[in-house]
Amino acid sequence: MALCRAWRALFIFLLPLIFTLPLLLSVFELHQKPIQQEQKRNFPKKSDHLILGPAAGQGLPKRLQCEGLKAMNLIILPSSQKNLDTSEKVSFVSVFTVYNTSHRTELESINENFDSKVIVGSTSYTRTERSMAILKTFINFIQVSMPRSCIFLLTDPAAELTIDRNNVTLFPILGDYARGQLMLQRIRSYIVFLESRLQQKHEMQNSINHYIFTDSDVAIVNDLGHLFKNYPDFHLALTFRNNKDQPLNSGFIAVRGTPDGIRKSKIFLEEVLEIYSSKYINASRMLGDQLALAWVVRSHLSFITEHFRKPEAFSAEIKGASVLFLPCAIFNWTPPEGAGQFHGMPLNVQVVHFKGSRKRLMLESWNYYNKTSSIPDMLCLILRSGRTKYDF
Ligand SMILES: *[C@@H]1O[C@H](CO)[C@@H](O)[C@H](O)[C@H]1NC(C)=O
Ligand SMILES: *[C@@H]1O[C@H](CO)[C@@H](O)[C@H](O)[C@H]1NC(C)=O
Ligand SMILES: *[C@@H]1O[C@H](CO)[C@@H](O)[C@H](O)[C@H]1NC(C)=O
Ligand SMILES: *[C@@H]1O[C@H](CO)[C@@H](O)[C@H](O)[C@H]1NC(C)=O
Repeated sequence: MALCRAWRALFIFLLPLIFTLPLLLSVFELHQKPIQQEQKRNFPKKSDHLILGPAAGQGLPKRLQCEGLKAMNLIILPSSQKNLDTSEKVSFVSVFTVYNTSHRTELESINENFDSKVIVGSTSYTRTERSMAILKTFINFIQVSMPRSCIFLLTDPAAELTIDRNNVTLFPILGDYARGQLMLQRIRSYIVFLESRLQQKHEMQNSINHYIFTDSDVAIVNDLGHLFKNYPDFHLALTFRNNKDQPLNSGFIAVRGTPDGIRKSKIFLEEVLEIYSSKYINASRMLGDQLALAWVVRSHLSFITEHFRKPEAFSAEIKGASVLFLPCAIFNWTPPEGAGQFHGMPLNVQVVHFKGSRKRLMLESWNYYNKTSSIPDMLCLILRSGRTKYDF
C-alpha cells in the first residue's frame, strides 16, 4: 500500500504559497456542472471535475453507508459529553511558506501549464490561489469541527505573509525554507514552536493548550478534543499504517500541552531531526522525515511492526515519552488511489487527508458541505470520489 506516499509531493507544491485574504469562497453549485458518474475501473488520468465512483465498504460493518450522496448511518454529534474541560483547548499548528516566481524550480519553469487556471465550482484559481484556497479550507473545517480551537501558522519571516482570519496566528521562524530543505525545516520549526511554549510556563498554570501539528491538506471532521481525554497518558501521538517502508505518516502529530508533554515531544522530535540529518539528508526531500520517524521508533521498539498490522491504537514508551500510536484509518484517512484494496470509510473517521492529487476534492468537499451543512453527506462525496486523481 503506497497509501500515504504521494501526499508529500503535493505538500511541496502546496507550501509554495501565499495565503491571505478573507474568506471569499463562492457558494458551490453542484448542479451547474454535471457530475460524471464513473463506474469504470480506469479513472481518467487527472480530472478537472468531480467524478463519483461507487462507495466502497457498502454492507461492511462499522463502515459509512451511502445512498447516492446521503449518509445512512453516520451522524456526527457535537461530542460535548466527551469534550475537554473548559480549562483545556486544542490548537492546530501547520508550516507555510511562500515561493515567488523567481523561486520556481527548473521543472516548473518549463512546464507551461504552471500558471494555468483551474475552476472549482464557480471560482477560477491560479496556482497560488489554489494553495490559498486549500489553506482557507483547512481553517474552515477546523472552525466548523472545533470552534474553540486556534491555529498557528509557522512561516518564513521573509515571506511577509499576512492573514486575516479570527483565531489564526502567524508565527514566523527563521530558517532555511528552500524546497529541498522544507521537510527538515518543518521539524525544526515544530521544535522551535514547542520551545516557545515552554517559555510560557506561567500561562500553563491555569489552562492547558494541547497542540496538533498537521499538514494543511487535511479536513478535521470531528472534535479531536476527546483524544486527550480518552487517552489521558500519552505525551505525543503519531499515526501509523500497515506499510513496510513508511509505517508512520508525519502529517499528524498530537502533543499534550503539559510541560512534561511538550518537553518530551520536543526531545523526541530532536532525535528525529538528528536522524534525518545524519541518515536521510540525501533521501528524497519528500520522504526524509517519514523515514527518520520510522527509524527512531523502530530503533527503540523492535517489536513494533507487529502492532502496525492491526488498525488499533496502542501506546509504547520511547526514551521516557509515552507515545500513542493512532491508526491512519481514523486519524489520517486517505482512500487508496487507483486499484488498491479499499474497504470503505470507518464510521468514526476523524481526519481526512487529501494527499497527492486530491486537492481539488478538498475544495469540492468544502463547497458541498457549505451547501448541505452535513459532514456525513460530505463524507459520502469523499468516499465516492477519493480514488480519482485530480488536476491539483
Ligand atoms: C522574489 O524572490 C527574489 C529572490 O529571493 C527576491 O529578490 C524578490 O524580491 C522576490 N519578489 C517578490 C515580489 O517578493
Ligand atoms: C476566536 O475569535 C473570536 C473573535 O475574535 C473570539 O471571540 C473567540 O474567543 C476566539 N476563539 C478562541 C478559541 O480564541
Ligand atoms: C549526501 O550526498 C552528498 C553529495 O552527494 C555526499 O557528499 C554526502 O556524504 C551524502 N550524505 C550522506 C549522509 O549520505
Ligand atoms: C457557506 O459559505 C458562506 C460564505 O462564506 C458562509 O457565510 C456560510 O456560513 C457557509 N455555510 C456553512 C454551512 O458553512
